[in-house]
Amino acid sequence: MAAEYLTHKGVLFPGVDYSPETLSYLENEFQVRDDDVFNVTYPKSGTNWMLEILSLIRCEGDPGWVRSVLNWDRAPWIETQTGLEAALKYPSPRLLTSHLPVQLFPRSWQHSKAKVIYTLRCPKDVLVSLYHFSHFMQIFKVPSSMDSFLEDFLSGNVLYSSWFDHVTGWMGLKGNENFFFITYEELQQDPGGSVRRICRFLGKELSEEQVASVVENASFQSMKGNQMSNFSQIPDTYMDHEKGELLRKGKPRMGTTYQDSEILAELREGGCVLGLRVTGTGMEGG
Ligand code: PPS
Repeated sequence: MAAEYLTHKGVLFPGVDYSPETLSYLENEFQVRDDDVFNVTYPKSGTNWMLEILSLIRCEGDPGWVRSVLNWDRAPWIETQTGLEAALKYPSPRLLTSHLPVQLFPRSWQHSKAKVIYTLRCPKDVLVSLYHFSHFMQIFKVPSSMDSFLEDFLSGNVLYSSWFDHVTGWMGLKGNENFFFITYEELQQDPGGSVRRICRFLGKELSEEQVASVVENASFQSMKGNQMSNFSQIPDTYMDHEKGELLRKGKPRMGTTYQDSEILAELREGGCVLGLRVTGTGMEGG
């Protein structure tokens, strides 16, 4: 059956396990707790990687939890019906995940001490990752071609709508003491240093051995082989495991590195992102 999408306040969501009631409740009534930690991303930006890192930091590098509890139970996706129910039952301190754009995020966060970690990734790699993922996640519409998918991505006609709006919206919180952002590329270039920075933000002190264990157990290979983290337990009705897997390549496509100031400057120029100029029918540059 073809996937249906739901539009809530101008943003596209999957038609299954999401509802306008849940999304409104989350935005207006959900009570954020001071000791909540939120893992926030646009899809395909390293959500599950960060989830693993945060799970391991919580356990001081001990891999017991990540090897025994499914990732969506460790840090539920709050905007799904199932995730919201899990979040409401989750004893403090909670680890929560979300792809919500900033304008739909729980308002009660603004008056709390809860921390948000936002991970962003080069949009070219997000685009490619999302393109492949859309072919085997049954709740996604299957793109007819890369060209048409690029058009959809650029115009925000994809799940969770515009990458550009998502990133600029969340980056507007830069400077807020409860907000921390990091790029997928930084995690790749300097995993140990990235983990130490995240620990500092969380007020968590880990030894060098514990940091090394976080890096090792959250590596691409460790996660790929961990059934609690690689989406292999998602039922076939949602994910066609014959056609693909969450941990696909895990590499920057063009080895791009960037700083937030550069990305925002490029975004402001419009149509040109990270050296990738968008033409009428495709992409050039890179
Ligand atoms: S989702 O479905 O939106 O939650 O997907 P998300 O987890 O955000 O992104 C999936 C991509 O992240 C890559 N990934 C990793 N890369 C490096 N190291 C680790 N440990 C890791 N874990 C996940 C995963 O391979 C997807 O990227 P692509 O480019 O498709 O391989």
